[in-house]
Amino acid sequence: MVAQRSIRIRDLNPIDMQAILSIEYKCFKDPYPLSLLNHLYTMHPDGFLLAEADGKVVGYVIGVIRWEMMGHILAIGVDPPYRKQNVGSTLMEQIIGRLRAKGVKLVRLEVRKSNVGAQRFYLKLGFRQRGEIPYYYEDGEAAVVMDYEAKD
Ligand SMILES: CC(C)(COP(=O)(O)OP(=O)(O)OC[C@H]1O[C@@H](n2cnc3c(N)ncnc32)[C@H](O)[C@@H]1OP(=O)(O)O)[C@@H](O)C(=O)NCCC(=O)NCCS
Repeated sequence: MVAQRSIRIRDLNPIDMQAILSIEYKCFKDPYPLSLLNHLYTMHPDGFLLAEADGKVVGYVIGVIRWEMMGHILAIGVDPPYRKQNVGSTLMEQIIGRLRAKGVKLVRLEVRKSNVGAQRFYLKLGFRQRGEIPYYYEDGEAAVVMDYEAKD
């Protein structure tokens, strides 16, 4: 059994952007460029949450509101040595709570069809698969669309 680390969730400070970028590069083959992360932060400063453990940033999530009513998870990443220790779930629960507090009832995300591990992770959090978008990613891979419906 793995001992649970102490995780702190907090808002992003601009100085943290480099740490997020570094985790992006460890997580994705098509990471968001720094310019896009900066743009998203300018548009949605409260859409970023970070997880800290051992005094450093070990994960992040970006969740924004679309069309004034739907939550949209744009990215979540956890530094590989800190995975499977509840960091991702804690980030998702916190960002969903924040979106719900703003009146959101439906939260959507897209995930690569081949990323079966992330799909399992989302299923455990209560997301359901809603369909696919062919050729969603630049390399031609399809996205699986997943939704979470908040219960009152
Ligand atoms: C997906 C990701 C964010 C999960 O973060 P995490 O901190 O490891 O997740 P948690 O520890 O909170 O896991 C919660 C549950 O999901 C399960 N889970 C997490 N990753 C999983 C995987 N790769 N395969 C199967 N199940 C997984 C865990 O086993 C756990 O189940 P349990 O409650 O029965 O123990 C992390 O693996 C990651 O950063 N992956 C790379 C980036 C990525 O794919 N992001 C999503 C793109 S849309």
